[in-house]
Amino acid sequence: MTASGQGRGTTSHPHAAGGADAAPDARAATPVAQEPASTAGGPGDGTPPRATATAVLTDEAATAELGRQLGELLFPGAVIALTGELGAGKTALCRAIAEGLGIADPAAVTSPTFVLIQEYAARLPIYHCDAYRLRHAAELWELGIDEYLFGDGVCLIEWADRVAAVLPPEHLHIALVIRGLQRREARLTAVGQAYVAVLERLAAVFPLSPRATEPLAQSGPLTQAPPEQNVPAATAPPQ
Ligand SMILES: Nc1ncnc2c1ncn2[C@@H]1O[C@H](COP(=O)(O)OP(=O)(O)O)[C@@H](O)[C@H]1O
Ligand SMILES: [Mg+2]
Repeated sequence: MTASGQGRGTTSHPHAAGGADAAPDARAATPVAQEPASTAGGPGDGTPPRATATAVLTDEAATAELGRQLGELLFPGAVIALTGELGAGKTALCRAIAEGLGIADPAAVTSPTFVLIQEYAARLPIYHCDAYRLRHAAELWELGIDEYLFGDGVCLIEWADRVAAVLPPEHLHIALVIRGLQRREARLTAVGQAYVAVLERLAAVFPLSPRATEPLAQSGPLTQAPPEQNVPAATAPPQ
């Protein structure tokens, strides 16, 4: 299912860069760049549709607003893959997404230190995973990540580029780039129709601009599970 009808409605976003209102004409500007399902490999190749967008986050309040608005739009089983260097704001964004999902105490959302996956109760269960300390992607399978990824909750995965090999092909990737002391750029890539729909709805309540498609980065040794770990081939990323 999708998030239709589940949002708590449009709220103002005084901190959001650009100041675009959540009016219908904001959608008309099509701030989300879309690729139909068949673009990459021809019709019928099963490639999910993609959409991309960029948000300029002038300060922490803007990041918080983006997260809250996104959290309101998420649906059961949603997977949010977060990337970006240390201090980019991945955890800050997770906290705000949790707030948008109605968590009672957003401050409880911190970098998971002793456990690799933390669970929070909200409108939908939230599973917050920090892959930073994983030795290899297959460790996520050992932790039972599939139950989370294919469950009814929302998965927020920090350092997702380290575990790209085990992520479902359909997800929302948010790459945070540090542009200054307070300034961040969020590069959003929706893969799959449900996520494209979320990005479109997000564009109606938060200023986004179009951007060319960019796949979830795969870098470093952690994306390559050792052969003996036997990561299911079906979970290999599309590119
Ligand atoms: N626009 C912004 N968005 C998010 N965090 C910001 C922003 N500007 C400054 N910060 C600071 O950057 C740090 C982000 O930390 P954190 O969310 O833990 O990053 P990560 O999880 O990516 O390592 C915090 O200290 C926060 O106060
Ligand atoms: Mg973090």
